[in-house]
Amino acid sequence: MSVRLPLFVYDSTVPPIVRSHMAATAMSVSDALETRSSARAFRPAPVPQALLREIFTLARQAPSNCNVQPCRAYVVSGAKKDRLKQELVSAVMSGSPPNPDFEWNVKYQGEHRERQFGSANALYGAMGIERADKQRRQIAMLRNWQFFDAPHAAFFTMAKYLGLTGAVDLGIYAQTLVMLMTERGISSCMQGALGMFPDPARRMFGLAEDTGILFGMSFGYADEDAPANKARTDRVTLDSTVRFLS
Ligand SMILES: Cc1cc2nc3c(=O)[nH]c(=O)nc-3n(C[C@H](O)[C@H](O)[C@H](O)COP(=O)(O)O)c2cc1C
Repeated sequence: MSVRLPLFVYDSTVPPIVRSHMAATAMSVSDALETRSSARAFRPAPVPQALLREIFTLARQAPSNCNVQPCRAYVVSGAKKDRLKQELVSAVMSGSPPNPDFEWNVKYQGEHRERQFGSANALYGAMGIERADKQRRQIAMLRNWQFFDAPHAAFFTMAKYLGLTGAVDLGIYAQTLVMLMTERGISSCMQGALGMFPDPARRMFGLAEDTGILFGMSFGYADEDAPANKARTDRVTLDSTVRFLS
């Protein structure tokens, strides 16, 4: 049986619209965790601006190391998103190597590599793409920079000097957003890919040299019928994730 944990909002600066919406929602954190999966195909309808503001207002409650709150998120929608999509696809297709602001190019080993293959197989299997079909896999990969046709994409940035500490905080912030979105029927896909070719987004956001894009996330209302959204990944056993000592 899952424990129902209401998401209480303690911050008196949170506007009343947030609280009224919170009272109306029924999904527990456990439900959100059990039902969420990454979405890689979206319907065009945008998330209403008031709802976006509500979600990003609540996400400020995410904890961070020493409460430094290092994340600055940039959300692109509409014409700006379309322009960025074009520029990103051009950057990827140009053949230039990725030039991420942060070291992001880990080469997975052993069981991590197996799980990496497992997630790729889940996605390409759902999309009916054979392992040997490099061309279709590349087209599917390219959809990362097309934001999977989502109406919105968020880019998570922070001061470069923060390194690992800031990366932890940004990850926690992003997952907080994902849970708030899930609660509201909004699907998402976090994307390391959105940090691989940072220059077009850096230009659009006017980022200073000392600030970097760590990763991003496409989000909106999922196209539930799309094969890509039928992909489901598995999880390792409890014993593999935790040791209880007493
Ligand atoms: C930090 C991070 C980066 C990710 N980058 C990508 C990405 O670039 N492209 C993609 O399609 N999925 C990406 N994902 C989604 C993962 O592949 C996905 O979360 C994982 O396979 C588990 O599947 P699920 O989210 O459906 O449970 C990323 C997830 C995280 C947390």
